[in-house]
Amino acid sequence: MTQGTEHWSHYWQNSKSLNSFGEGDAALGYTGNVQFYWHDIFSRMATGAVIVDIASGNGALAISAIAFSELHNKNFTVYACDIADVKPEVLFQADPDILTKLKKVQFYPATAIENLPFENNSIDLIISQFGFEYANQIEAVAECNRVLKPDGCFNALIHHADSFISKDSEAGLAFYKHCLSEAGFLTQVERLLMLAESCWLKKTSPTTNVDYVAQNKILFKIATDLKVQYSSTAAAFWCDDLLSRLVPVLASPRPGNLTSFLSFRHTVVLYMARLEDQVNATWSQDNKNNFINTFQSNLSALRVTPFYEEKALFAWSLYWHKAD
Ligand SMILES: C[S@@+](CC[C@H](N)C(=O)[O-])C[C@H]1O[C@@H](n2cnc3c(N)ncnc32)[C@H](O)[C@@H]1O
Repeated sequence: MTQGTEHWSHYWQNSKSLNSFGEGDAALGYTGNVQFYWHDIFSRMATGAVIVDIASGNGALAISAIAFSELHNKNFTVYACDIADVKPEVLFQADPDILTKLKKVQFYPATAIENLPFENNSIDLIISQFGFEYANQIEAVAECNRVLKPDGCFNALIHHADSFISKDSEAGLAFYKHCLSEAGFLTQVERLLMLAESCWLKKTSPTTNVDYVAQNKILFKIATDLKVQYSSTAAAFWCDDLLSRLVPVLASPRPGNLTSFLSFRHTVVLYMARLEDQVNATWSQDNKNNFINTFQSNLSALRVTPFYEEKALFAWSLYWHKAD
């Protein structure tokens, strides 16, 4: 497994995405009830408010605050911090619409929620979508309260253990762990491609090599079993995706496949590390109760409620304000 923040930095620097929803339209901003939730919060802020998006990733939420501010003449100042090495302006250099908004946000890469680079009592609103829960809660609450102005507000959407996102992530994580185990599909593909590579080095054809032929048979059996085992589970999507990428390679391997496979395998390991972080950060009902029990005596108006998107459970909404 990876260490530190490489798995997040790699994602933010290589996925054409402003948030953690992969690629495509959903990755470029929030819509529906999520957008409504944040717009409602922005609408309550006074003109000139100073806002920080913590654990911002490439800044989907921060630029949504900028877009709202421009539309409603709010003149917000927006900062965005993430522990990963985020560089959204590099990634979106060729997208003038997004780049213009990104340039209006002051980004702080390599910046933990537990150690924010702001003065005491300087921030009107701290916001976070699927980020606050990744931090050490005691330190994060203390740090957010240090930088919030008296009467400043904190609002976050927190991963909910029973949401479809969490269930999906758990299933994906279990699937990839299985594939990377000693007898798993990815480990066996690597073995096959190494055998093929050594044949080519000796200028022989893999198809005439007994070990290669035996390994190939093992792999097709594993692939068939995987399809049967996962086709009607929450991991069916991951299973189909993986098999559709690799089965053609197994059917007719070529020199160079091992190198590209190892690079693909590395992205799978990084992806698993992100899923693992997410699964560990997610709040169950017990986590939510613990948070309330721990902090209700020192956080004013503390509120944690289930949040729905298109009638499906999506997150916890977490709110408090800093007492005067
Ligand atoms: C699921 S992503 C969410 C990013 C973004 N808010 C979004 O909506 O897409 C979680 C982010 O939390 C960041 N993170 C994890 N621990 C953190 C910490 N202690 N301080 C700041 N950021 C952290 C990760 O680097 C990652 O970018």
